[in-house]
Amino acid sequence: MLILVTGGAGFIGSHIVTAFLGAGHEVRVLDALLPAAHRTAPEIPDGTDWRHADVRDKDAVADALRGVDAVCHQAAMVGLGKDFADAPDYVGCNDLGTAVLLAGMAEAGLRRLVLASSMVVYGEGRYECSRHGVVRPGPRREADLEAGGFEPPCPHCGEPLAAGLVGEDAPADPRNVYAATKLAQEHLAAAWARATAGRVAALRYHNVYGPGMPRDTPYAGVASLFRSALSRGEAPRVFEDGGQRRDFVHVRDVAGANLAALDGLDTPGGSSDGGLRAYNVGSGEPHTVGEMAGALAEAYGGPTPVVTGEYRLGDVRHITASSQRLRDESGWKPQVPFAEGMTEFASAPLRAG
Ligand SMILES: NC(=O)c1ccc[n+]([C@@H]2O[C@H](COP(=O)([O-])OP(=O)(O)OC[C@H]3O[C@@H](n4cnc5c(N)ncnc54)[C@H](O)[C@@H]3O)[C@@H](O)[C@H]2O)c1
Ligand SMILES: [Zn+2]
Repeated sequence: MLILVTGGAGFIGSHIVTAFLGAGHEVRVLDALLPAAHRTAPEIPDGTDWRHADVRDKDAVADALRGVDAVCHQAAMVGLGKDFADAPDYVGCNDLGTAVLLAGMAEAGLRRLVLASSMVVYGEGRYECSRHGVVRPGPRREADLEAGGFEPPCPHCGEPLAAGLVGEDAPADPRNVYAATKLAQEHLAAAWARATAGRVAALRYHNVYGPGMPRDTPYAGVASLFRSALSRGEAPRVFEDGGQRRDFVHVRDVAGANLAALDGLDTPGGSSDGGLRAYNVGSGEPHTVGEMAGALAEAYGGPTPVVTGEYRLGDVRHITASSQRLRDESGWKPQVPFAEGMTEFASAPLRAG
């Protein structure tokens, strides 16, 4: 197949390109090389048809879609950003960009889409109260965070909650601009699928890490912030009390999930039959942010992380997903265990952000 990978010059996209080429596909890459994501020109793998263009550019998209069999849409502005003033840029890249791409696909009669979504669409993770069962805590209050109360309490009785795994059917609750734009991408893709009988696998990635991750910027993930601190000889600064639970999934496993999802699009009666089907993509091995900092610092050879008690208002306390659906429906299985992945990441090259 000839596959268009948007954002294929980015961190995850470039690993996807490698995986697709390795599976014998032909690949075309469309990427705007956003300055927030690239300080220097990235390497585009040999054998790819490279287009330096923006997904919001209708003509460039129409041209890039010519002869294509499927689209893997990774292009997006990522991270929490600097402040709310970034909102128009996020909405432009992520939602207007997706709409232009989908309109182009409709026009070209294309029916297969793998969409990079995110766990951030869920907001807080899954919580259970011993008295009230599964509950949905609202955003944490600044006063609580200021006082070091990081765990969201039960919204009914105020008692502590137990965190569990989020399934794909959990209600969406985006808590920041980026999250809202990722959810809107899913809604747009679902609308496209209904209108055109297209099929979409929306892959809700967990915290992705690995070689080629962008260095620390307001747009980078926490693993990159810690790794960048270590390479400056500084201790990773762990926010809150370090007890936030996440699922750190290796970028090669995410690339493998894209390949599996792409194959699944053609399975009759299968995963994305008629419309959009969402899949969590995580390692299945949750860890706290403090543990991640510790593992990385140890593999790097120090210094030991410091827990600062700082917080960011848009952050959620615990979010860990069940990726069982993708495993069951596609046979995909993560291959890189946490300890091994963090050891590799400690000495892996980062990309200039
Ligand atoms: N990194 C993570 O942990 C994570 C987690 C969940 C979801 N995701 C999603 O995965 C995808 C890839 O993210 P990444 O971490 O590789 O980020 P990245 O910034 O490394 O890559 C994104 C790429 O998209 C390009 N791009 C952005 N806007 C564009 C536009 N309008 N037109 C053309 N190209 C554009 C950028 O130049 C960049 O090369 C994104 O959709 C992101 O939302 C990432
Ligand atoms: Zn309760």
